[in-house]
Amino acid sequence: MMNLWHRRLLLLVLVTISEGKLNVLLIVADDLRPSLGCYGYEPLITPNIDLLASQSVVFNRTYAQQAICGPSRASFLTSRRPNTTHVYDQHTYWRKKGGNFTTLPQHFKNNGYVTFSVGKIFHPGAASGKTDDYPYSWSFPPYHPSTQKYKMAKVCPGPDGKLYMNIVCPVDVTAMPEKTLPDLQSTQHALQIMQNVSRFSGQPFFLAVGYHKPHIPLKYPKEYLNLYPLDKVHLAPDPSLPPKLPLVAWNPWADLRERDDVKMLHVSFPYGPLPKHYQLLVRQSYYAATSYMDDQVGQLLKGLEKYNLSSNTVIVFMGDHGWSLGEHQEWSKYSNFEVATRVPLIVYVPGLTNKGQNLHRKFIFDRNFINKDNYRVTNALVELVDVFPTISELSGIKVPELCPDNDSDIELCTEGTSFLPLIKDTVFNNGASDLKWKSAAFSQYPRPSDLPQENSDQPKLKDIKIMGYTMRTDKYRYTEWVGFDPLTLKTNWTDLHARELYVHDIDPDEDNNVAGLWDYIDVVADLSDKLLKGWRKALPNSYNSDKLNHR
Ligand SMILES: *[C@@H]1O[C@H](CO)[C@@H](O)[C@H](O)[C@H]1NC(C)=O
Ligand SMILES: *[C@@H]1O[C@H](CO)[C@@H](O)[C@H](O)[C@H]1NC(C)=O
Ligand SMILES: *[C@@H]1O[C@H](CO)[C@@H](O)[C@H](O)[C@H]1NC(C)=O
Ligand SMILES: *[C@@H]1O[C@H](CO)[C@@H](O)[C@H](O)[C@H]1NC(C)=O
Ligand SMILES: *[C@@H]1O[C@H](CO)[C@@H](O)[C@H](O)[C@H]1NC(C)=O
Ligand SMILES: *[C@@H]1O[C@H](CO)[C@@H](O)[C@H](O)[C@H]1NC(C)=O
Ligand SMILES: *[C@@H]1O[C@H](CO)[C@@H](O)[C@H](O)[C@H]1NC(C)=O
Repeated sequence: MMNLWHRRLLLLVLVTISEGKLNVLLIVADDLRPSLGCYGYEPLITPNIDLLASQSVVFNRTYAQQAICGPSRASFLTSRRPNTTHVYDQHTYWRKKGGNFTTLPQHFKNNGYVTFSVGKIFHPGAASGKTDDYPYSWSFPPYHPSTQKYKMAKVCPGPDGKLYMNIVCPVDVTAMPEKTLPDLQSTQHALQIMQNVSRFSGQPFFLAVGYHKPHIPLKYPKEYLNLYPLDKVHLAPDPSLPPKLPLVAWNPWADLRERDDVKMLHVSFPYGPLPKHYQLLVRQSYYAATSYMDDQVGQLLKGLEKYNLSSNTVIVFMGDHGWSLGEHQEWSKYSNFEVATRVPLIVYVPGLTNKGQNLHRKFIFDRNFINKDNYRVTNALVELVDVFPTISELSGIKVPELCPDNDSDIELCTEGTSFLPLIKDTVFNNGASDLKWKSAAFSQYPRPSDLPQENSDQPKLKDIKIMGYTMRTDKYRYTEWVGFDPLTLKTNWTDLHARELYVHDIDPDEDNNVAGLWDYIDVVADLSDKLLKGWRKALPNSYNSDKLNHR
């Protein structure tokens, strides 16, 4: 039950929301799984994101719709699933293939906001029309840090003192070209924008900052290595190839193999494994790169406070998809596993998620606010397509309507659900009410063949022959790999190549595929039916019927 204090707060928040003046700071980290202190991932040192989390709601079960940058970003930035954008690879622009869909920043721009892109928000290049969707989505040309062009350059010192194009790449920043790194540049640029908008306030802003780390190369200031002494770094809990894994599910992590340091290890294709000592080094550098990115987030939070923007800015921190750190003998994304699809999502709403913490409803940059036992966490199933309608609702602009079945002609609609009810439920009831939420989260991943080959991680649209549809429910992960025609873009559900079923209570790491066991025959039949029916049938009941009846 809400007491008077809660009611007053809610009123205050609703007043703020109805004024329609909340700014948005959207922070997207590239290839970041929920390996963060606030997600209970022990070795990680991420005090800044933890500080944000301590004044926010932490979404513990959030899933990307496809575990690769271009398709995932096209999906969450349009609030349509890869099925609708028809962006399954890094080379397709949704406006050309799926439909002329309005994006999240475009929606804000159309509603009187000034919108800025810093770093990697859209997947750059062909996937966003070679312009990062400017001018549709952005008020100004998107900013890209100049040093990102050294992504594939030989700038990582090896043990012999020579320079290589490595995956493991701690560096002395002063020895780098232009004496800086991409994410350091993006932070500086974003801070300048904050300073500017604080001077010319009047128009609300939508500022999106996309950090490149912890994407490979794991290139970061070498001081961050000191946080993770190698003897404190462990292997993944399940570092070997699961015996019952259908081979179509396997991603051969080709992006690691093209790096000089991994090449020198002569790892066999497609399964490896990476030698143990190198597994530890990659994990150590992923952690260090994450802490480096965390410090960038800290700079942005400090900036918001410094420029007096934290009492009227919604902050969303998220990853675009996960990353395997040696689980199942795998690395990188490119799969339908939990480690590849699950992402961090943290949402700060001034005066709502930091309720009762201070009188001014501001974000407070003070480590004393971190109380590890006191994060506001929800375990409800959330999908990245939900972010667009949610931020719209939080900021007080029009929430796109739920898309009808064939939505390719509709520029503005959502295949997600605003999770503002979950935020309120978590803040006011600690998630203990009987709010019914989505019964499943959906993702998908394409393959060119049943057996792993060079392009299994990143098949181009024309080469896609199989689509893996996966669904995470409270208890299970269930996946079907089925026939797909790249010309008609149609799925053939009777052309079944493989199934996977993981029982999360007893197999949280997804190592034991029980889809073929008699014991699970009914579960498989039930989940298969739900998977075919798709996301629409998994929406919260009341929401589903309300919205559908009003169409
Ligand atoms: C978050 O999810 C993880 C993985 O499913 C689980 O182990 C953990 O208990 C959850 N955290 C909370 C606070 O419920
Ligand atoms: C796509 O949408 C944009 C922005 O709303 C509009 O300017 C453009 O004309 C549309 N393109 C097509 C082909 O409909
Ligand atoms: C900030 O404003 C100044 C003056 O209008 C402008 O020259 C500069 O480019 C702006 N900086 C950013 C990062 O937008
Ligand atoms: C800070 O922002 C708030 C709300 O936008 C405003 O009421 C207040 O006057 C500002 N304070 C300063 C010192 O500019
Ligand atoms: C969806 O609508 C488009 C445009 O009206 C049409 O070309 C397409 O065939 C329709 N698809 C389905 C599955 O009905
Ligand atoms: C779908 O796959 C089944 C089984 O392979 C096949 O018999 C059928 O012809 C396919 N349907 C279409 C429309 O291609
Ligand atoms: C994707 O599209 C296919 C049709 O091509 C449909 O059967 C399926 O339900 C959709 N899957 C999801 C996860 O939306």
